[in-house]
Amino acid sequence: MKVQVLGSAAGGGFPQWNCNCDNCAGFRNGSLNAKSRTQSSICVSSNGVDWALINTSPDIRQQIIDFPPLQPGRGKRDTGIRGVVLMDSQIDHTTGLLMLRELAHPLPIYCTDMVQQDLTTGFPVMNMLSHYCDTNWHQITPDGSGFQVEGVEDILFHGIYLSSKAPPYSPHRHDPHQGDNIGMLIEDQKTGGRLFYAPGLGVLEPHLLPYMQQASCLLVDGTCWLNDEMSTRGVGSKLATEMGHLYQFGEGGMIEQLGQFPDARKILIHINNTNPILNEDGVEREILKSNDIEVAWDGMQITL
Ligand code: MLT
Ligand code: MN
Ligand code: ZN
Repeated sequence: MKVQVLGSAAGGGFPQWNCNCDNCAGFRNGSLNAKSRTQSSICVSSNGVDWALINTSPDIRQQIIDFPPLQPGRGKRDTGIRGVVLMDSQIDHTTGLLMLRELAHPLPIYCTDMVQQDLTTGFPVMNMLSHYCDTNWHQITPDGSGFQVEGVEDILFHGIYLSSKAPPYSPHRHDPHQGDNIGMLIEDQKTGGRLFYAPGLGVLEPHLLPYMQQASCLLVDGTCWLNDEMSTRGVGSKLATEMGHLYQFGEGGMIEQLGQFPDARKILIHINNTNPILNEDGVEREILKSNDIEVAWDGMQITL
């Protein structure tokens, strides 16, 4: 299975347009050794021709330019995207659907009923697309049962509900429902390679562990280093956990939790612009390295 990281940043990207935190300012003035990052999205394929796009970021247009297999020239109008799989209804994961409106047929969207509800009410992009290419909704039941994306051979997806947060415009923001957010075990039935993907992961609940244990690669929530990072960086007051993201450093954090999976390749994605792990020369990178944890970047390819 080929896994392409199209975007590795959290909402806002890096640098964020209006942010002057130490990272964003340091990137702009050249004092920080860091890569710019677009908003979180990956795509997967077994044959390298037919791709499932997982989440659709507002940066999808640039991401397609940067990854030519998604834009093959087999016809006057063409795409390598066979379908879109959504992990939640957050702006950074769904706004790009509007940028795909020129498609010549209804866009296949695989998501839970909760996400479909958000995308037809609080953020009605599916209603809007009905005036363009239209969409074809395939319901994901987030109980781990397997499904395929039509046209993407040999890849089996398993959506698993998890505890994170529905977006502010969701009717479920303060009333969590199973399926507001999911993780995904993605397996290549030919190679046996298995990816566990969860860009929003607030708590490693026991029901997730069997899926994570099966995975040869864990590509998980790397939003914040510290739970109070937004306030220590002087750009906000919300805790990472209030936004549905498990912090990395400290007791009970992601680094400690990932220690349970010694055999898997471990990679952080959905990195917020405030996170010190963006600094490639920082002590935080050393800490990750010594824990055998990598940081995803735009253009990273993972073969499983
Ligand atoms: C989140 O996951 O919390 C989002 O990145 C927030 C956003 O997109 O505004
Ligand atoms: Mn996000
Ligand atoms: Zn910033």
